[in-house]
Amino acid sequence: MGKGFYISKAVGIVGIVVGAGAVATIIALSVVYAQEKSKNEPIEDGTVTTTTIKPSTTPAPSNEPWDKYRLPDTLVPDSYDVYLWPRLEKNQHGLYIFTGNSTVLFRCVKETDLILIHSNKLNLTKFGDHHAKLFAVDGSTPPAIKETWLQVTTQYLVVQLNTKLTAGKSYQLFTEFQGELADDLGGFYRSVYFEDGKEKIVATTQMQPTDARKAFPCFDEPAMKAIFTITLLHEPGTVALSNGMDIETVNITIDGNAVTRTRFEPTKKMSTYLLAFIVSEFDSIDAMEDNVLIRIWARRTAIAEGQGQYALNKTGPILKFFESYYNSSYPLTKSDQIALPDFNAGAMENWGLITYRETALLYDPQMSSNGNKERIATIIAHELAHMWFGNLVTLKWWNDLWLNEGFASYVEYLGGHEAEPDWGLKDLIVLSDMHRVFAIDALASSHPLSSREDEINRPEQISELFDAISYSKGASVLRMLSEFLSEEIFVKGLSSYLKEFAFKNTVYTDLWDHLQMAVEGSGLTLPDTVHNIMNRWVLQMGFPVVTIDTHTGQLSQKHFLLDPDSIVDRPSEFNYKWFVPIKWMKTGTDKGQYWLMKETETNNNMAAAQNEWILANLNVTGYYRVNYDEGNWNRLLSALQSNHEVIPMINRAQLVDDAFNLARARIIDTTLALRTTKYLSAEREYMPWESALDNLDYFFLMFDRTEVYGPMQAYIRKQVGPLFEHFQTITSNWTHVPEGHTDQYNQVNAIRMACSSGVPGCRELTTGWYDQWEQNPDNNPIHPNLRTTVYCNAIAAGGVEEWNFGWEMFRNATMASEAEKLRSALACTKQPWLLNRYLEYTLDPTKIRKQDATSTIVYIANNVVGQPLAWDFVRARWEYIFNQYGGGSFSFSNLINGVTKRFSTEFELKQLEQFKADNAEVGFGSGTLAVEQSIERTKANIKWLALNQQKVKDWFENETKA
Ligand SMILES: *[C@@H]1O[C@H](CO)[C@@H](O)[C@H](O)[C@H]1NC(C)=O
Ligand SMILES: *[C@@H]1O[C@H](CO)[C@@H](O)[C@H](O)[C@H]1NC(C)=O
Ligand SMILES: *[C@@H]1O[C@H](CO)[C@@H](O)[C@H](O)[C@H]1NC(C)=O
Ligand SMILES: *[C@@H]1O[C@H](CO)[C@@H](O)[C@H](O)[C@H]1NC(C)=O
Ligand SMILES: [Zn+2]
Repeated sequence: MGKGFYISKAVGIVGIVVGAGAVATIIALSVVYAQEKSKNEPIEDGTVTTTTIKPSTTPAPSNEPWDKYRLPDTLVPDSYDVYLWPRLEKNQHGLYIFTGNSTVLFRCVKETDLILIHSNKLNLTKFGDHHAKLFAVDGSTPPAIKETWLQVTTQYLVVQLNTKLTAGKSYQLFTEFQGELADDLGGFYRSVYFEDGKEKIVATTQMQPTDARKAFPCFDEPAMKAIFTITLLHEPGTVALSNGMDIETVNITIDGNAVTRTRFEPTKKMSTYLLAFIVSEFDSIDAMEDNVLIRIWARRTAIAEGQGQYALNKTGPILKFFESYYNSSYPLTKSDQIALPDFNAGAMENWGLITYRETALLYDPQMSSNGNKERIATIIAHELAHMWFGNLVTLKWWNDLWLNEGFASYVEYLGGHEAEPDWGLKDLIVLSDMHRVFAIDALASSHPLSSREDEINRPEQISELFDAISYSKGASVLRMLSEFLSEEIFVKGLSSYLKEFAFKNTVYTDLWDHLQMAVEGSGLTLPDTVHNIMNRWVLQMGFPVVTIDTHTGQLSQKHFLLDPDSIVDRPSEFNYKWFVPIKWMKTGTDKGQYWLMKETETNNNMAAAQNEWILANLNVTGYYRVNYDEGNWNRLLSALQSNHEVIPMINRAQLVDDAFNLARARIIDTTLALRTTKYLSAEREYMPWESALDNLDYFFLMFDRTEVYGPMQAYIRKQVGPLFEHFQTITSNWTHVPEGHTDQYNQVNAIRMACSSGVPGCRELTTGWYDQWEQNPDNNPIHPNLRTTVYCNAIAAGGVEEWNFGWEMFRNATMASEAEKLRSALACTKQPWLLNRYLEYTLDPTKIRKQDATSTIVYIANNVVGQPLAWDFVRARWEYIFNQYGGGSFSFSNLINGVTKRFSTEFELKQLEQFKADNAEVGFGSGTLAVEQSIERTKANIKWLALNQQKVKDWFENETKA
């Protein structure tokens, strides 16, 4: 799946509260903005939070094969012949259903009298006493079926035979079934939208990781690759799509009903989780690229408005890029990509038929921001990268998911760069993946990238792996690997890996083997093998902070923990020591590379003269933080002050982020971290600014209700004022769009922070634009890049009229990305009654789509006025929310983390503990861990405030003294 699916839009993004002028105007801006360009949504591949399968009781320990979650090694599928017929209208019982049948041809590789095949939530037809029919392929009489039943917990159809199947022989198992086409976003499910005043239903799929078994009985493990011949029956006038090209469409009559039957060419040998079938009234546009048919599908109106054009323009070039990067041609004859109104993840890399959220595929130059555009380019790249890495060559089991997702999350920047070479996309991985995952991987409760195969069995354990560690840490360490090998060696190993294992399955060390072969004979010397270097990054959690003492040239490494008091109880065979590649530079042009292999080493190059600084982890290619002796920090800070461009841009962002986090971990003083922001008044680049604002968000959360708030706002105003003026100038008084992609992002930062800190002229600017729009709703004068921020500011500064207008525009929005901008901005009002009313709307699916309920509540909580309202709302409705949304896509952990992240007082801690006690009986579901984490985080916040409040206040006051 597409990256991001593991974080709800609002998680990890902190709301900044804004006080403008004398009256404190309070707005949650940053959250909203971050969403604008955020890659945080579910992206692809993903199952997200919706595991609908919960073993109702803990099964008694049993050795029966059907009580084990993994298939036995007795049978191997070769091919399936599957018929499916989804009904887009309710049946007489008020249900949307699908019917179908399937024949699987399999080989017996070890003799057995038991057939286990996955089947979940399907009603199977009985033939006589049994749920299946068995045939021998050679025409002989197969063993008779003794008994069949459905093993609900482990999701099997169990077929017990009277005698054994013979090793080496092939058999066919036939099943016929009926299932519900539910709105649960998993398996074969339905999505709903309105067009021409009518409700339209789409039948679509999301199989990854374990829901193919909800569509038809199958050996539903990634190593059980087979060839699938799919036939869909559907209402005349609808279009049917699947992984393969359609080869025959005919109108037939079944029981007096006219039905269209579409057959698809047999697939390549592939895993079940990559299957897709879709029936809709969608339309498409297409193009050919080197004999590959590329089609973009969406709602008819979206296609008619040209919203698929950007995706169509970029798919061909990205596909070509990956063909040359992998040195392997695209394995299929067509590439369909489709935008769905209801989709849980961001996107999913079904082989030949990639599914997306509408916001991840559809683009309209009049409506979409540059952030929306970036997201489309990178998600397409991510999904297309999987067509080889993941689909052609597939990891054997889910424990290695990190390699599949980490890899795609790394190369999506390379593919995106190919599509938009002027955007500087490759640098952004540092902010979007590395900085983000550093925050999680610095906790004692983190986990290693790699899990043991036998630790991952149940569907919910598999779903848990789709997290920031797999995606973002995976991407970060693979980037580090590619950098220290060189891209040339990396792609050489990669392409030989893809050649050897095409249509097969692997474990992650197979990739290391091929990279090692590429290293040998290349002339590159490494301090150890690829295996041994990478084991330290893959098998142990966390990452080091490297400390450089420039007096002596001594380097040392230590496991970096955000809370130094936390206890690491997970053992590591490497004792939390890493092999660390260190690229460094010194004042002037002196550069070098060094491998830190032990806990402490001394290297003469790391000693600096009195007036020289050393900077390590150049361009932040290494997955670690860096600390220095105080003298070197001071020299780096004065270099920033006097001429910041002597430090590479990405490292300016790094210095800020490292300093703030080292301060959180009590390794350096908080005031040293704050000092890294002083030079920002002269900074114009996006990455350092974004890094600083991300870190200051924590200060806003902690201080926006305290006496530190005023002095902090004054300081921000002082720092951001010049940036605001800079953009005012280069855009000729806001009439042009800055040229550079990241400059466009930074323009938004400038407006957002200027308005929030009360820079003169900002508020008038944003409310003026919004007023103009209100006067003439058919003609929105606000540039799409600025909409999220402008809407938020105007709604915060306004009253019920502005809010109601925003709501009306939200209801009428014809583009998902426009609706999303408004949905976040509506949470910015500072009127408690409007916020309370909006909270009520979140539990009414006719107002806010189910998939958006959690993030809307979290947006409201990000607003300092909305925070206590959202908390009261969640507390009061807990039982209702839990029961209504418990099984679906509602993310309880995002919700709980979101409404409590500002907590930093003893009183709030007590409330939280009370909440936990009061609802012990109802439970917290997928939010159980989040309740514990929130309590832990609140305690840490209380400690941090006690230690830092006075110091921080004094510092801000001192910096803003006239
Ligand atoms: C499976 O279903 C299709 C469509 O209803 C039907 O044409 C076909 O005969 C069925 N297969 C078997 C073996 O019954
Ligand atoms: C499956 O069978 C159960 C029990 O008879 C019934 O309640 C359910 O509605 C059926 N599901 C479908 C999709 O027909
Ligand atoms: C099948 O019927 C539909 C609706 O009547 C029609 O639009 C379509 O062209 C027909 N398809 C074929 C292959 O005849
Ligand atoms: C797609 O490409 C065409 C032809 O190069 C161009 O005219 C059009 O503006 C592009 N559309 C988008 C949305 O990028
Ligand atoms: Zn993916």
